[in-house]
Amino acid sequence: MPGKTVPEEAAPGKTVPEEAVPGKTVPGKTVPEETTVPEETQAAAPGDLQEHFEATIARGARIEPRDWMPDAYRATLVRQIAQHAHSEIIGMQPEGNWITRAPSLRRKAILLAKVQDEAGHGLYLYSACETLGASREELTSLLLAGRQKYSSIFNYPALSYADVGTIGWLVDGAAICNQVPLCRTSYGPYGRAMIRICKEESFHQRQGYELLMTMMRGTGEQRAMVQESVNRFWWPSLMMFGPPDADSPNSARSMAWGIKRNGNDELRQRFVDMTVPQAEALGVTLPDPGLRWNAERESYDFGEPDWSEFTAVLRGEGPCNAQRLAHRRRAHADGAWVREAALAFAGKTALATAGADHD
Ligand SMILES: [Fe+2]
Ligand SMILES: [Fe+2]
Repeated sequence: MPGKTVPEEAAPGKTVPEEAVPGKTVPGKTVPEETTVPEETQAAAPGDLQEHFEATIARGARIEPRDWMPDAYRATLVRQIAQHAHSEIIGMQPEGNWITRAPSLRRKAILLAKVQDEAGHGLYLYSACETLGASREELTSLLLAGRQKYSSIFNYPALSYADVGTIGWLVDGAAICNQVPLCRTSYGPYGRAMIRICKEESFHQRQGYELLMTMMRGTGEQRAMVQESVNRFWWPSLMMFGPPDADSPNSARSMAWGIKRNGNDELRQRFVDMTVPQAEALGVTLPDPGLRWNAERESYDFGEPDWSEFTAVLRGEGPCNAQRLAHRRRAHADGAWVREAALAFAGKTALATAGADHD
Protein backbone atom coordinates (compact mmCIF):
# COMPACT_ATOMS: atom_id res chain seq x y z
CA MET A 1 0.00 0.00 0.00
CA PRO A 2 1.49 3.38 -0.97
CA GLY A 3 2.23 6.19 1.43
CA LYS A 4 3.08 6.35 5.07
CA THR A 5 1.69 3.56 7.20
CA VAL A 6 -0.32 4.28 10.34
CA PRO A 7 1.91 4.28 13.41
CA GLU A 8 1.21 1.11 15.42
CA GLU A 9 0.07 3.03 18.47
CA ALA A 10 -2.51 4.98 16.47
CA ALA A 11 -4.17 1.84 15.22
CA PRO A 12 -7.58 1.32 16.77
CA GLY A 13 -7.85 -1.79 18.80
CA LYS A 14 -4.46 -1.12 20.41
CA THR A 15 -6.34 0.95 22.92
CA VAL A 16 -8.51 -1.92 24.11
CA PRO A 17 -7.89 -2.08 27.83
CA GLU A 18 -6.11 -5.00 29.42
CA GLU A 19 -9.21 -6.75 30.73
CA ALA A 20 -10.40 -7.47 27.17
CA VAL A 21 -7.46 -9.81 26.61
CA PRO A 22 -8.90 -13.26 26.22
CA GLY A 23 -7.51 -15.96 28.41
CA LYS A 24 -7.34 -13.62 31.40
CA THR A 25 -10.69 -14.90 32.48
CA VAL A 26 -11.25 -18.59 32.53
CA PRO A 27 -14.31 -19.31 30.45
CA GLY A 28 -16.61 -21.80 32.09
CA LYS A 29 -19.66 -23.58 30.80
CA THR A 30 -22.33 -21.16 29.63
CA VAL A 31 -25.14 -23.42 30.66
CA PRO A 32 -24.57 -25.62 33.67
CA GLU A 33 -25.59 -29.25 33.25
CA GLU A 34 -27.95 -29.00 36.13
CA THR A 35 -30.20 -25.97 36.41
CA THR A 36 -32.14 -26.95 39.49
CA VAL A 37 -31.46 -25.16 42.77
CA PRO A 38 -28.76 -27.08 44.67
CA GLU A 39 -30.10 -28.99 47.66
CA GLU A 40 -28.32 -26.98 50.32
CA THR A 41 -29.93 -23.76 49.10
CA GLN A 42 -33.40 -25.21 48.64
CA ALA A 43 -34.01 -25.12 52.34
CA ALA A 44 -32.55 -21.65 52.80
CA ALA A 45 -34.82 -18.79 53.78
CA PRO A 46 -35.27 -15.99 51.20
CA GLY A 47 -33.27 -13.64 53.44
CA ASP A 48 -30.27 -15.98 53.35
CA LEU A 49 -30.48 -16.26 49.58
CA GLN A 50 -30.56 -12.49 49.22
CA GLU A 51 -27.59 -12.22 51.55
CA HIS A 52 -25.66 -14.85 49.63
CA PHE A 53 -26.43 -13.06 46.36
CA GLU A 54 -25.25 -9.72 47.72
CA ALA A 55 -22.11 -11.25 49.21
CA THR A 56 -21.28 -12.88 45.85
CA ILE A 57 -21.58 -9.53 44.07
CA ALA A 58 -19.64 -7.73 46.80
CA ARG A 59 -16.63 -10.02 46.51
CA GLY A 60 -16.64 -9.65 42.72
CA ALA A 61 -17.57 -13.28 42.06
CA ARG A 62 -20.06 -14.24 39.38
CA ILE A 63 -23.70 -15.14 39.57
CA GLU A 64 -24.35 -18.29 37.53
CA PRO A 65 -27.65 -19.53 36.04
CA ARG A 66 -28.24 -22.04 38.85
CA ASP A 67 -27.79 -19.39 41.58
CA TRP A 68 -30.70 -17.68 43.23
CA MET A 69 -31.10 -14.08 42.05
CA PRO A 70 -33.65 -11.32 42.73
CA ASP A 71 -36.40 -11.10 40.10
CA ALA A 72 -35.45 -7.52 39.30
CA TYR A 73 -31.80 -8.54 38.65
CA ARG A 74 -32.99 -11.25 36.27
CA ALA A 75 -35.40 -8.88 34.52
CA THR A 76 -32.73 -6.16 34.15
CA LEU A 77 -30.30 -8.65 32.65
CA VAL A 78 -32.88 -10.05 30.23
CA ARG A 79 -33.73 -6.53 29.09
CA GLN A 80 -30.11 -5.46 28.69
CA ILE A 81 -28.81 -8.65 27.04
CA ALA A 82 -31.82 -8.86 24.71
CA GLN A 83 -31.36 -5.24 23.68
CA HIS A 84 -27.71 -5.98 23.04
CA ALA A 85 -28.53 -9.13 21.02
CA HIS A 86 -31.11 -7.25 18.94
CA SER A 87 -28.54 -4.50 18.25
CA GLU A 88 -26.10 -7.05 16.85
CA ILE A 89 -28.76 -8.48 14.53
CA ILE A 90 -30.30 -5.19 13.38
CA GLY A 91 -26.76 -3.77 13.14
CA MET A 92 -26.08 -6.13 10.24
CA GLN A 93 -28.40 -4.10 8.02
CA PRO A 94 -26.63 -0.77 7.38
CA GLU A 95 -23.37 -2.42 6.36
CA GLY A 96 -24.93 -5.53 4.84
CA ASN A 97 -26.38 -3.12 2.31
CA TRP A 98 -22.86 -2.56 0.94
CA ILE A 99 -21.67 -6.16 0.57
CA THR A 100 -22.67 -6.47 -3.08
CA ARG A 101 -21.22 -3.05 -3.89
CA ALA A 102 -17.85 -3.29 -2.09
CA PRO A 103 -15.21 -2.21 -4.62
CA SER A 104 -13.03 -5.36 -4.64
CA LEU A 105 -13.14 -9.03 -3.73
CA ARG A 106 -10.90 -8.30 -0.73
CA ARG A 107 -13.25 -5.59 0.57
CA LYS A 108 -16.27 -7.86 0.01
CA ALA A 109 -14.63 -10.71 1.94
CA ILE A 110 -13.73 -8.41 4.86
CA LEU A 111 -17.20 -6.87 5.02
CA LEU A 112 -18.93 -10.23 4.70
CA ALA A 113 -16.83 -11.62 7.57
CA LYS A 114 -17.59 -8.58 9.72
CA VAL A 115 -21.34 -8.70 9.15
CA GLN A 116 -21.31 -12.45 9.78
CA ASP A 117 -19.49 -11.86 13.09
CA GLU A 118 -22.35 -9.59 14.15
CA ALA A 119 -24.83 -12.42 13.54
CA GLY A 120 -22.64 -14.61 15.75
CA HIS A 121 -22.63 -11.96 18.49
CA GLY A 122 -26.40 -11.91 18.41
CA LEU A 123 -26.50 -15.67 18.82
CA TYR A 124 -24.05 -15.76 21.78
CA LEU A 125 -26.17 -13.14 23.47
CA TYR A 126 -29.52 -14.84 22.83
CA SER A 127 -27.92 -17.97 24.30
CA ALA A 128 -26.82 -16.01 27.39
CA CYS A 129 -30.40 -14.79 27.72
CA GLU A 130 -31.75 -18.33 27.48
CA THR A 131 -29.82 -19.22 30.66
CA LEU A 132 -32.10 -16.68 32.38
CA GLY A 133 -35.22 -18.42 31.11
CA ALA A 134 -36.04 -16.14 28.17
CA SER A 135 -36.15 -18.02 24.86
CA ARG A 136 -34.76 -16.63 21.63
CA GLU A 137 -38.15 -17.08 20.01
CA GLU A 138 -39.83 -14.99 22.69
CA LEU A 139 -37.20 -12.23 22.48
CA THR A 140 -37.39 -12.16 18.69
CA SER A 141 -41.15 -11.73 18.82
CA LEU A 142 -40.75 -8.85 21.30
CA LEU A 143 -38.30 -7.18 18.92
CA LEU A 144 -40.57 -7.70 15.91
CA ALA A 145 -43.51 -6.30 17.85
CA GLY A 146 -41.44 -3.21 18.68
CA ARG A 147 -41.61 -4.00 22.39
CA GLN A 148 -37.86 -4.35 22.92
CA LYS A 149 -35.26 -1.88 21.73
CA TYR A 150 -31.93 -2.02 19.95
CA SER A 151 -29.17 0.57 19.81
CA SER A 152 -30.35 3.90 18.37
CA ILE A 153 -27.27 4.11 16.09
CA PHE A 154 -28.65 1.48 13.70
CA ASN A 155 -31.56 3.75 12.84
CA TYR A 156 -29.16 5.92 10.83
CA PRO A 157 -28.55 5.04 7.17
CA ALA A 158 -25.25 3.98 5.58
CA LEU A 159 -25.33 6.34 2.61
CA SER A 160 -21.84 6.01 1.16
CA TYR A 161 -19.19 3.32 1.04
CA ALA A 162 -17.10 5.42 3.46
CA ASP A 163 -19.82 4.69 6.04
CA VAL A 164 -18.58 1.09 6.16
CA GLY A 165 -15.24 2.44 7.43
CA THR A 166 -16.80 5.01 9.74
CA ILE A 167 -19.16 2.48 11.29
CA GLY A 168 -16.22 0.15 11.96
CA TRP A 169 -14.09 2.92 13.42
CA LEU A 170 -16.66 4.91 15.43
CA VAL A 171 -19.61 2.58 16.02
CA ASP A 172 -17.61 -0.56 16.75
CA GLY A 173 -15.15 1.69 18.63
CA ALA A 174 -17.92 3.00 20.89
CA ALA A 175 -19.21 -0.56 21.27
CA ILE A 176 -15.75 -1.64 22.48
CA CYS A 177 -15.68 1.13 25.12
CA ASN A 178 -19.13 0.05 26.29
CA GLN A 179 -18.46 -3.66 26.16
CA VAL A 180 -14.95 -4.17 27.51
CA PRO A 181 -16.12 -3.48 31.10
CA LEU A 182 -18.97 -5.96 30.50
CA CYS A 183 -16.38 -8.77 30.28
CA ARG A 184 -16.34 -8.38 34.09
CA THR A 185 -20.10 -8.09 34.53
CA SER A 186 -21.57 -9.97 37.48
CA TYR A 187 -23.60 -12.48 35.44
CA GLY A 188 -21.31 -15.28 34.25
CA PRO A 189 -22.77 -16.24 30.84
CA TYR A 190 -23.01 -12.57 29.78
CA GLY A 191 -19.42 -11.81 30.81
CA ARG A 192 -18.06 -14.86 29.01
CA ALA A 193 -19.98 -14.03 25.81
CA MET A 194 -18.53 -10.51 25.97
CA ILE A 195 -14.93 -11.73 26.01
CA ARG A 196 -15.23 -13.28 22.59
CA ILE A 197 -17.38 -10.46 21.25
CA CYS A 198 -14.80 -7.85 22.30
CA LYS A 199 -12.03 -9.74 20.51
CA GLU A 200 -14.04 -9.58 17.30
CA GLU A 201 -15.15 -5.96 17.80
CA SER A 202 -11.50 -5.03 17.98
CA PHE A 203 -10.99 -6.54 14.50
CA HIS A 204 -14.06 -4.65 13.29
CA GLN A 205 -12.71 -1.36 14.51
CA ARG A 206 -9.34 -1.94 12.91
CA GLN A 207 -10.83 -2.89 9.55
CA GLY A 208 -12.93 0.28 9.57
CA TYR A 209 -9.92 2.43 10.39
CA GLU A 210 -7.82 0.75 7.73
CA LEU A 211 -10.51 1.33 5.12
CA LEU A 212 -10.76 5.03 6.03
CA MET A 213 -6.97 5.38 6.02
CA THR A 214 -6.85 3.89 2.52
CA MET A 215 -9.53 6.31 1.33
CA MET A 216 -7.73 9.25 2.95
CA ARG A 217 -4.65 8.37 0.88
CA GLY A 218 -6.79 8.34 -2.28
CA THR A 219 -8.37 11.16 -4.27
CA GLY A 220 -9.77 14.44 -2.98
CA GLU A 221 -13.23 13.07 -3.66
CA GLN A 222 -12.54 10.03 -1.47
CA ARG A 223 -11.23 12.23 1.35
CA ALA A 224 -14.36 14.37 1.13
CA MET A 225 -16.48 11.22 1.28
CA VAL A 226 -14.74 10.16 4.50
CA GLN A 227 -15.16 13.60 6.08
CA GLU A 228 -18.84 13.76 5.16
CA SER A 229 -19.38 10.31 6.66
CA VAL A 230 -17.57 11.19 9.91
CA ASN A 231 -19.68 14.37 10.16
CA ARG A 232 -22.85 12.27 10.10
CA PHE A 233 -21.73 9.54 12.49
CA TRP A 234 -19.82 11.47 15.18
CA TRP A 235 -22.76 12.69 17.27
CA PRO A 236 -24.88 9.53 16.99
CA SER A 237 -21.77 7.57 18.11
CA LEU A 238 -21.54 9.70 21.27
CA MET A 239 -25.23 9.00 21.91
CA MET A 240 -24.50 5.25 21.92
CA PHE A 241 -23.37 5.61 25.55
CA GLY A 242 -26.87 6.61 26.57
CA PRO A 243 -28.12 9.77 28.26
CA PRO A 244 -26.04 11.63 30.87
CA ASP A 245 -25.84 9.72 34.17
CA ALA A 246 -28.13 12.24 35.84
CA ASP A 247 -30.89 11.30 33.36
CA SER A 248 -30.26 7.56 33.43
CA PRO A 249 -32.33 6.27 36.34
CA ASN A 250 -31.49 2.56 35.93
CA SER A 251 -27.73 3.10 35.76
CA ALA A 252 -27.12 3.35 39.51
CA ARG A 253 -28.94 0.11 40.27
CA SER A 254 -27.18 -1.72 37.44
CA MET A 255 -23.87 -0.53 38.86
CA ALA A 256 -24.76 -1.62 42.39
CA TRP A 257 -25.48 -5.09 41.01
CA GLY A 258 -22.19 -5.19 39.10
CA ILE A 259 -24.04 -5.48 35.77
CA LYS A 260 -22.61 -2.17 34.63
CA ARG A 261 -19.12 -1.22 35.77
CA ASN A 262 -18.93 2.40 34.61
CA GLY A 263 -21.29 5.32 34.15
CA ASN A 264 -22.41 6.56 30.71
CA ASP A 265 -20.49 9.84 31.01
CA GLU A 266 -17.24 8.16 32.01
CA LEU A 267 -17.42 5.76 29.06
CA ARG A 268 -18.30 8.58 26.65
CA GLN A 269 -15.26 10.53 27.85
CA ARG A 270 -13.06 7.45 27.44
CA PHE A 271 -14.29 7.08 23.85
CA VAL A 272 -13.61 10.73 23.01
CA ASP A 273 -10.11 10.58 24.52
CA MET A 274 -9.35 7.42 22.57
CA THR A 275 -10.79 8.69 19.27
CA VAL A 276 -9.42 12.24 18.93
CA PRO A 277 -5.78 11.13 18.35
CA GLN A 278 -7.03 8.53 15.86
CA ALA A 279 -8.95 11.28 13.97
CA GLU A 280 -5.75 13.36 13.89
CA ALA A 281 -3.72 10.43 12.50
CA LEU A 282 -6.43 9.92 9.89
CA GLY A 283 -6.56 13.60 8.95
CA VAL A 284 -10.30 14.11 9.52
CA THR A 285 -11.98 16.83 11.56
CA LEU A 286 -14.49 15.82 14.22
CA PRO A 287 -17.55 18.08 13.82
CA ASP A 288 -17.49 19.64 17.29
CA PRO A 289 -16.27 23.23 17.69
CA GLY A 290 -16.16 22.68 21.47
CA LEU A 291 -13.62 19.87 21.23
CA ARG A 292 -10.31 20.82 22.90
CA TRP A 293 -7.67 19.35 25.17
CA ASN A 294 -8.12 20.21 28.83
CA ALA A 295 -4.65 20.07 30.40
CA GLU A 296 -6.03 20.28 33.92
CA ARG A 297 -8.31 17.26 33.50
CA GLU A 298 -5.92 15.56 31.06
CA SER A 299 -8.93 14.81 28.89
CA TYR A 300 -10.77 16.38 25.99
CA ASP A 301 -13.63 18.77 26.60
CA PHE A 302 -16.42 18.25 24.10
CA GLY A 303 -19.88 19.54 23.21
CA GLU A 304 -23.26 18.17 24.23
CA PRO A 305 -25.00 15.80 21.82
CA ASP A 306 -28.50 16.81 20.77
CA TRP A 307 -30.47 14.75 23.27
CA SER A 308 -33.79 15.69 21.68
CA GLU A 309 -32.61 13.88 18.54
CA PHE A 310 -31.66 10.88 20.69
CA THR A 311 -35.07 10.66 22.33
CA ALA A 312 -36.82 11.11 18.97
CA VAL A 313 -34.86 8.15 17.54
CA LEU A 314 -35.74 6.10 20.63
CA ARG A 315 -39.40 6.97 20.09
CA GLY A 316 -39.13 5.44 16.62
CA GLU A 317 -38.70 8.69 14.70
CA GLY A 318 -35.14 8.14 13.45
CA PRO A 319 -34.42 8.10 9.71
CA CYS A 320 -34.53 4.28 9.42
CA ASN A 321 -36.53 2.87 12.38
CA ALA A 322 -39.45 1.70 10.25
CA GLN A 323 -37.21 0.37 7.48
CA ARG A 324 -35.01 -1.65 9.89
CA LEU A 325 -37.94 -3.37 11.60
CA ALA A 326 -39.77 -4.01 8.33
CA HIS A 327 -36.64 -5.64 6.91
CA ARG A 328 -36.16 -7.75 10.03
CA ARG A 329 -39.81 -8.89 9.94
CA ARG A 330 -39.50 -9.82 6.27
CA ALA A 331 -36.26 -11.75 6.89
CA HIS A 332 -37.89 -13.58 9.81
CA ALA A 333 -40.89 -14.57 7.69
CA ASP A 334 -38.62 -15.64 4.81
CA GLY A 335 -36.72 -17.88 7.23
CA ALA A 336 -39.83 -19.69 8.50
CA TRP A 337 -39.28 -22.68 6.18
CA VAL A 338 -35.71 -23.08 7.49
CA ARG A 339 -36.93 -23.20 11.10
CA GLU A 340 -39.68 -25.67 10.15
CA ALA A 341 -37.22 -27.88 8.24
CA ALA A 342 -34.75 -27.82 11.14
CA LEU A 343 -37.50 -28.83 13.59
CA ALA A 344 -38.74 -31.61 11.29
CA PHE A 345 -35.17 -32.88 10.89
CA ALA A 346 -34.59 -32.77 14.65
CA GLY A 347 -37.84 -34.70 15.16
CA LYS A 348 -36.82 -37.38 12.63
CA THR A 349 -33.36 -37.68 14.18
CA ALA A 350 -34.89 -38.09 17.64
CA LEU A 351 -37.25 -40.77 16.33
CA ALA A 352 -34.40 -42.62 14.58
CA THR A 353 -32.30 -42.48 17.77
CA ALA A 354 -35.22 -43.75 19.86
CA GLY A 355 -35.75 -46.56 17.29
CA ALA A 356 -32.07 -47.50 17.43
CA ASP A 357 -32.27 -47.64 21.24
CA HIS A 358 -35.15 -50.13 21.05
CA ASP A 359 -33.37 -52.44 18.59
FE1 LIG B 1 -20.92 -7.03 17.39
FE1 LIG C 1 -18.85 -5.19 15.43
